[in-house]
Amino acid sequence: MTVIIVGAQLGDEGKGALVDRWGGEADVVVRYQGGDNAGHTVVEDGEEYKLSLVPSGSVRGKTGVLGNGCVVNPRTLFDEIESLQEQGLDPDVRLAERAHVIMPYHRVFDNMEEADKDESGSGTKVGTTGRGIGPTYEDKAGRRGVRVGDLLDPDVLRDRLEYTVPQKRAIAEEVFDVDTGVEFDVDQLVAEYAAYGERLREEGMTVEAGDFLYEQHADGANLLFEGAQGTSIDIDHGNYPYVTSSNPTAGGAAIGSGIGPKLLGEGEIVGIVKAYLSRVGSGPLPTEMTDAEEDLANKIREKGGEFGTVTGRPRRIGWLDIPMLRHAARRSSFTAIAVNHVDVLAGLDELKVCHQYDLDGDTLRTVPATTEEWAACEPAFREFETWAEQDWSAIVEEGYDGLPAAAREYLGYLEEELEAPVYAVGVGPDRDQTVERETPWE
Ligand code: GDP
Ligand code: IMO
Ligand code: MG
Repeated sequence: MTVIIVGAQLGDEGKGALVDRWGGEADVVVRYQGGDNAGHTVVEDGEEYKLSLVPSGSVRGKTGVLGNGCVVNPRTLFDEIESLQEQGLDPDVRLAERAHVIMPYHRVFDNMEEADKDESGSGTKVGTTGRGIGPTYEDKAGRRGVRVGDLLDPDVLRDRLEYTVPQKRAIAEEVFDVDTGVEFDVDQLVAEYAAYGERLREEGMTVEAGDFLYEQHADGANLLFEGAQGTSIDIDHGNYPYVTSSNPTAGGAAIGSGIGPKLLGEGEIVGIVKAYLSRVGSGPLPTEMTDAEEDLANKIREKGGEFGTVTGRPRRIGWLDIPMLRHAARRSSFTAIAVNHVDVLAGLDELKVCHQYDLDGDTLRTVPATTEEWAACEPAFREFETWAEQDWSAIVEEGYDGLPAAAREYLGYLEEELEAPVYAVGVGPDRDQTVERETPWE
C-alpha cells in the first residue's frame, strides 16, 4: 500500500520524525519534490540525523528514491551520504533519471535574484534557502534543464550545457551585472558532472523511477512518500510568490513519482501539523505573535528548537491557524493527521487558535487566493485551556487517553475542523516520543 506524508503548514512540521516513525513498515521511502532545501530531522535513541536530500527512511535502512519531481544537487547528495555513513548508516539512494540536476549556476541565480529583489524594494524577496531550487525548476519548465539521465552520457551533457551556459552567463553579466566564474565554465562543469554520472552508474544509483516503484508496488511493497516543505509554500496552493517552486501537496506525489493518483488514493494521506506555526523566510503570517508576545515567541522558539535546519535562521512563530489547515486538508484530501510539538506548548499561560479570519467585515474559514488578501486577514482567535508539563514518557506508555484533558480538547477540535482523525501526537523529537493511536499501515 501507499502512505503520503504532507506538510500541512509552512514546512518543518516534523515530517521527518513521522516518516521515521512509520518507516519501519515501509519498504521504499520516496521523495517526490523539492531538493536540498529540505531539512528533516530524525532522532533515534538520542542520536540525531539531519537529512536533506536522502529520504528519512535511510535511518531505518530502507531504500530511498528521489523521484522525477525532485531537483538533485549531486555535490550535496554525495556529501550527505558520506556524513550519514560517518554516523554509521548505509544509505541506499536511487535517483530518477528524469529528475533535474541543480547546477552551480542555479545557486548563483537564486542568490542573484534574491539580492536583486531585495535591492529593488519591491518586497518580493522570498528568503529562499539559496540552494538553487527555483532556477532549476525554471530551467525544467523552460526545457533547458539537465536531467540525472544526462549525467550518464558526457556528450549529451556537453550538448545541453553548451546551449544553456552562455545564455546564463550573459544574463548574469548583462542583466544582473554580476561577475561570473567557474560556475559558468562548460569544460569544468562537464568534467565534474560527468564524473558524478560515472559514480552514479558504478554504484547503480539511477532508475526509471516510475517503473521501479510500479514494480515494487506490484510485488506487494509498502511505499512511503515523504513530502518536503508544506502546503502554504506550495507553488500552486501556497502564498505566492513567497513559496518554493514545487508541489508538496499530495497531488505532487503522483506527478513527482510516476505512480498514478488512483493507486495513491487507495492509500492514506497524512497531514503533519505543528501545534503552533513556524515560518522561515518572508511572506505574511496572520497569526504571527505580536511584539507584545515576543517573550512567548522566544520561549517557544527556544523550547521547540525553531532555527532552520538548512540555514540556521530563527523561525518566525505564530499561533495555530485553522483556515490554513482547512485549506491544507482540502488540497491534499487528508485521511488523517499527526500533530507534533504538543510538548512545546506545555506550561504556557495562554493558548490561542485562529478559528477563522475577518477580511473587511467578511468571515473567511479558508485561505483567500491572493497573498495580499491573506495578509489583510485579521485572525479571530479562540482561547483554549493550557496544559502543564507532563511526564511524557509515561503518557507514551499509557496512550492517547493519558494525554492531559486540555490537550485532548485541542486535538479533538482539530479533528473536527479538519474532518480527519489524529493518528499520532508528537511529545518530543525522538522516535519513541510519539503517542500513537493508529498507524497508517493498518
Ligand atoms: P521537517 O522538515 O518537517 O521534517 O521538520 P524539521 O526536522 O525541520 O523540524 C522539526 C524539529 O522539531 C526537529 O528538530 C525535530 O526533531 C523536532 N520535533 C519533531 N517532532 C517533535 C515533537 O513532537 N516535539 C518536539 N519538541 N520536537 C519535535
Ligand atoms: P522542510 O522539508 C521550511 C522556504 C524558504 C523560503 C521558500 C522558498 O524542511 O519542511 P526555496 O529555497 O525552496 O526556493 O525557498 O521556502 N522553505 C522551507 N521552509 N521548511 C522547508 O523544508 C523549506 N524549504 C524551503 O525558507 O521561504
Ligand atoms: Mg525541515
